[in-house]
Amino acid sequence: MKILVTGGTGYIGAHTIVELQQQGFDVVIADNLSNSYADVVDSIELITHIRPIFEKMDLTNAGETKALFSKHPDIVGVIHFAAFKAVGESTELPLKYYQNNLFSLVNLLNSMQEFNITSLVFSSSCTVYGQPETLPVDENASVQKALSPYGNTKQICEEIISDTIHSGKLKAILLRYFNPIGAHESALIGELPIGVPNCLVPFITQTAIGKRPFLNVFGNDYNTPDGTCIRDYIHVVDLAKAHISALSRLIGKKNEENCEIFNLGTGIGYSVIEVIHSFERVSGLKLNYKITDRRAGDVEKIWAETSLANKVLGWKAEKGLDDMTLSAWNWEKKLAEKNK
Ligand code: UD1
Repeated sequence: MKILVTGGTGYIGAHTIVELQQQGFDVVIADNLSNSYADVVDSIELITHIRPIFEKMDLTNAGETKALFSKHPDIVGVIHFAAFKAVGESTELPLKYYQNNLFSLVNLLNSMQEFNITSLVFSSSCTVYGQPETLPVDENASVQKALSPYGNTKQICEEIISDTIHSGKLKAILLRYFNPIGAHESALIGELPIGVPNCLVPFITQTAIGKRPFLNVFGNDYNTPDGTCIRDYIHVVDLAKAHISALSRLIGKKNEENCEIFNLGTGIGYSVIEVIHSFERVSGLKLNYKITDRRAGDVEKIWAETSLANKVLGWKAEKGLDDMTLSAWNWEKKLAEKNK
């Protein structure tokens, strides 16, 4: 069965393709390489010994999107990752985010309708909850006004999908990710932000390897045990596996509703300082960091209620924080060797 993975050379996309191929699915990648590299396709092949088909293309172009589906009439399902995701940049360039994240989804849905493809897994985010009133946050918590254009695109995309479902044959699973970190155990694929990383863990590993002088810890005066923000970090391979469960549920017509939503996290919250300590523990290094001002738009604390995904998708995150930080470190070291 052939699956279209948009954004398949990106961080979560690449890890998901490995799991898809290992479960016997064929994969077509659509990616414009705006925040990833073509050699990720080679790395996927090294891991699975199967080369996914790669179509370098722009999903914001309706003609190109239609041509993709015409070229691959045997696609049976779509996992849509392709999107811009830098929160800070989205506040400076909101239209870039709306144009990319919304137009690509609309084109994709139009083509899916035209080619009669009804199964969609969508990459959403816990950012839709803002700062929840109760923790852990479950899927029934209200969606809050987005703190950034990026967050708003995720909310609008969820609404676009939901409206499209109500008007036709589409069925979708919206996966709300908490904080994916870590890398494949082979260290052949991992997170490779272009430019200065925004996210915590790539910043930690780049600091430790010497690419950055120190890590800024954004605030230690939050209402948390050590004063730093708390997040639910999830190993990217665990996250990837949930996509296979979701997709199989749709393709196998096991879904109970045509739009289902699941949180993907571990259910455990860790502070920034706890992540740093985990990194120091697994690497044996002392990390150079400084406490600085809060970052605008950060929520204080959030972690997931995961029982719905555990029960309905039959999926559970298995890896702990030290597995995550160690795999991220192994990936950073491998990159450094490669670039020597
Ligand atoms: C946010 C969104 C997430 C979205 C992601 C996109 C929320 C709750 N989460 O993740 O849905 O997909 O952006 O990029 O809205 N930190 C530092 N120093 C750094 C970097 C980060 O102290 O150099 C801290 C942050 O303040 C935060 C934690 O580390 O407390 C995690 O930050 P990050 O990795 O950027 O992810 P989120 O902001 O949680």
